[in-house]
Amino acid sequence: MSLSIRKLQKSYVEPGGHRLPILNVEAFDIATGEQVVLIGSRGGGKTTLLNVIAGITSADAGSVTIDGVDVRSLPEAARDRFRAERIGYVFQTFHLLPAFSALENVLLGMSFSGKKTDRHHAAELLDRVGLGHRLHHRPTKLSVGEQQRVAVARSLANRPSLLLADEPTANVDTANQDLILDLIRDACSENNVSLLMVTHSPEVASRFERVEKLSDFNRPEVAA
Ligand SMILES: Nc1ncnc2c1ncn2[C@@H]1O[C@H](COP(=O)(O)OP(=O)(O)O)[C@@H](O)[C@H]1O
Ligand SMILES: [Mg+2]
Repeated sequence: MSLSIRKLQKSYVEPGGHRLPILNVEAFDIATGEQVVLIGSRGGGKTTLLNVIAGITSADAGSVTIDGVDVRSLPEAARDRFRAERIGYVFQTFHLLPAFSALENVLLGMSFSGKKTDRHHAAELLDRVGLGHRLHHRPTKLSVGEQQRVAVARSLANRPSLLLADEPTANVDTANQDLILDLIRDACSENNVSLLMVTHSPEVASRFERVEKLSDFNRPEVAA
């Protein structure tokens, strides 16, 4: 799928009422199947940008167009379903539900899209991330690298056409870093999924063709 962002603005209002501009993006595009790495300083608005694309945070102004559909123009229920069906998200801090097994966490990811959950596909995804023998483990019984791999499996559960990944390798060891990057890249390449991945690591970024610096296209200081 293609992603097209236009005139996007987002600011947070601090408790004292002071407005803190975070995003002011004139234009940013990702083509179908393109893999893009986003780098930027801490606090620069990378997570906010991903959250706005995913619909977790609402923008103040501007548009996020996915496959030609301006997501904000859809009625709320349709908008939520559209996002759940098309967007996969690997959060930096996993967001796995502690009371549920690895398999159940992936199945829950499926249920949000309103589609029928598919245990076979969920188990297959976990097998693919090397956790075929850990299906019934809860997150607390898994290593951090394994937890992140469950999160990767969950992000792919609905066969998304856009994958957002927020520093997916920031908290894991080198072996898991390589595994997770290969999994994300291969899953995206095989299925022509567009990827927007945030990383701090120049080494991680160097493996991708298109690397964008957020500060090159984000100008919050000149926001209206
Ligand atoms: N919910 C919020 N309310 C107020 N300020 C926020 C909120 N979320 C993030 N911020 C601020 O917005 C800025 C950008 O945050 P973030 O998008 O998380 O940056 P990054 O992911 O690049 O480190 C930071 O200064 C952060 O403190
Ligand atoms: Mg962040």
